[in-house]
Amino acid sequence: MKEKQIWQLIDRMTIEQKLGQMSVCEYGDLMKGGDNVYTGPKGEFALTEEQKKIVGGVLNFKDASAMIALQKKHLEEDPNKIPLLFMLDVIHGYKTTFPIPLAIGCSFDTDLAERCARAAAVESAVSGVQVTYSPMADLCRDARWGRVMEGFGEDPHLCAEMSAAFVNGYQRNADKNYEIASCIKHFACYGAAEAGRDYNCVDMSSYTMDEYYMPGYKAGVNAGAAMVMTAFNSLNGTPCTANTMLRDKLRTEWGFNGVVISDYNSVAELVNHGCARDLREAAKLAIAAECDMEMVSTTYLQEGAALVESGEISMEQIDRAVFRILSLKNRLGLFENPYAAADVQAEKRFCRCAGFLSLARKASTDSCVLLKNDGILPLKKRNGIALIGPFADSKEIIGAWSCNADPAHAVTIREAFCEENIEFEYARGCGDSLEESDRRGFSEAIAAAKRCETVVLCIGESMRYSGECRSRTEICLPPLQTELFEKIYETNPNVVVVLFQGRPLHIRALLKSRAVFTMWQPGAEGGHACADLLFGKSNFSGKLAMSLPHSVGQLPLYYNHYETGRPFDPNNAGAWTSKYIDAPNEPLFPFGYGLSYSKFVFSDAKITACGVKKENKMRVSVRVRNESDIDGSEVVQLYVRDVAATMVRPVRELKKFKKICLSAHTETVVEFMIGPKDLGFVHSDGSFYAEPGEFQVLIGGDPRGLLRLDLIYKEDKMRYNISRIAMREMAEPYVEAQNEQQRIL
Ligand code: BGC
Repeated sequence: MKEKQIWQLIDRMTIEQKLGQMSVCEYGDLMKGGDNVYTGPKGEFALTEEQKKIVGGVLNFKDASAMIALQKKHLEEDPNKIPLLFMLDVIHGYKTTFPIPLAIGCSFDTDLAERCARAAAVESAVSGVQVTYSPMADLCRDARWGRVMEGFGEDPHLCAEMSAAFVNGYQRNADKNYEIASCIKHFACYGAAEAGRDYNCVDMSSYTMDEYYMPGYKAGVNAGAAMVMTAFNSLNGTPCTANTMLRDKLRTEWGFNGVVISDYNSVAELVNHGCARDLREAAKLAIAAECDMEMVSTTYLQEGAALVESGEISMEQIDRAVFRILSLKNRLGLFENPYAAADVQAEKRFCRCAGFLSLARKASTDSCVLLKNDGILPLKKRNGIALIGPFADSKEIIGAWSCNADPAHAVTIREAFCEENIEFEYARGCGDSLEESDRRGFSEAIAAAKRCETVVLCIGESMRYSGECRSRTEICLPPLQTELFEKIYETNPNVVVVLFQGRPLHIRALLKSRAVFTMWQPGAEGGHACADLLFGKSNFSGKLAMSLPHSVGQLPLYYNHYETGRPFDPNNAGAWTSKYIDAPNEPLFPFGYGLSYSKFVFSDAKITACGVKKENKMRVSVRVRNESDIDGSEVVQLYVRDVAATMVRPVRELKKFKKICLSAHTETVVEFMIGPKDLGFVHSDGSFYAEPGEFQVLIGGDPRGLLRLDLIYKEDKMRYNISRIAMREMAEPYVEAQNEQQRIL
């Protein structure tokens, strides 16, 4: 359809039909057999039979046949024959489940992320999905918040790169049929919910917002995301669904002209926030803020016509929203083919096909993070192993938010061991719930640990405790699992701990074991990936996308914090500096940390001026050598520190990263181009530029031992003139974290 035809269609529509387009309801509202989870009183939101015929979108349906049946019914009933938009939370794969987004973040591999999203799009598209409510671009610093599993961690650059990769994966395919629209969420700052309590308010300076929280959403928008979802929280006093930021930042500043959708029921919740007297005022505020679509609550349909009649909302405002919605449907080709790629036969062909499963296995492997290894890994023998713990044979490793995937398809570690003909004894030990108190499985587990040479202990946090509305204050392992660990360790100290988690947990007590690695929630191929890593068929290459805390009281915790006036001095621990008296400032393991079976050595860090004059870029290079007999991959990380600026700056910020593959005993030189864009920040007047002065460039594969280069960025009105940049090389080791012992008073 041409733009003109869309406007002609809008001209023919009644106000009710327009408001219908702006409304999204549950599949079960329109067809029998859907599971509706109402977060508000259903009576208030009930649609009349006439209203059901004119809604614009639907969420939470099962498969292609359900989609096709509903679309057919809808097209028979809708007076304008406007196809419904079918939406779903495809978060980490559809039928093939990939690792949770936090784990994908740990892969530091945007190409892998994009391929996973593309595979999810293919499976979703043939199953009738046209929009996925993904990726979640919310920056996450507080592991108490259950939804950190859906994000890409604590770093704005990584979050931005991953968000863009997901959008590209969903929205770009050589075959247009298999593209789906991506909805970036939750605008804005949902990840900063105070005290990590879901839905809680957020109060934040615009400086911090621009510096840390906006890059993720902005990158998604720049990558062309078709939709943006508002957040549940209030931000600086106004709930996001009615926040002027939707207009001022998202649309005006960033030029987003796609569809904005509320989160589930969040228009009606403006009343609960105490910002709207009633549902009528809630509708008015959200429409005025240019929230085009309302999810599940029905205030637009119930109150919109009266608002237009009274002049509180103009018809132009409504028409603009409807234009954006119809334009999206048009872009997806729904007017020509309302069923898009939905196809029961294709569903059978594509869903869980061999190619996607092997991609899932790779993604699970590459997102695991090895935290400790005294040399016990990879395991040398394929016998004499006790496989113990509630996650050793659990299908739950598939991960929360697995949408329409069947957990039965998950390959457990026990199943993978059997496939690999490992000689092992299995004992569950105990259950995985937080309240677990049943110790009856202990004796069998202890006996197995006694008989075997090595123990692989699979423990962690069940997927039931992470995700939406799953905030926790004690982010520890369930106490009975810690007890199981202690008992096993006393019996046989040759313990390898395999962790499952949807958030960073407090795991200090486990570090006495010989090796520890986390698989997060690895998805359906987790068992295979685990066996591959344990026995050295694969190598570890993941790095933490979120720091693991030393103590829960350190939260929110993030490496890129602003410097204080009294920085901690490890050589003068008793001084009156910014510190805790009962815990170090440093995390147990920082962002960017992760071990490998290979040994990578970094040297020859250099900066050289280069490139096109106009671009004012510098080339930073470093030599990386794999000094081991094992092939492996390493994440080369480049951080920047502004030594003195007009504003307090982060102690360091990730600006570039690259995952490289190095065969045993080979080396390569990795290069990055950095320019004023990487040195600058948004100033109080809203302008972005780099300030002249001294900068440090820190480069390496382990944040605890980076090479440092110093450079001077010289003031220049033209700012883009390479000749004004003077550089000097200093390559000296920069040790960011000190030993724990030195830190504790
Ligand atoms: C979540 C969103 C999700 C929506 C639809 C809400 O509760 O916050 O992230 O997309 O439900 O399922």
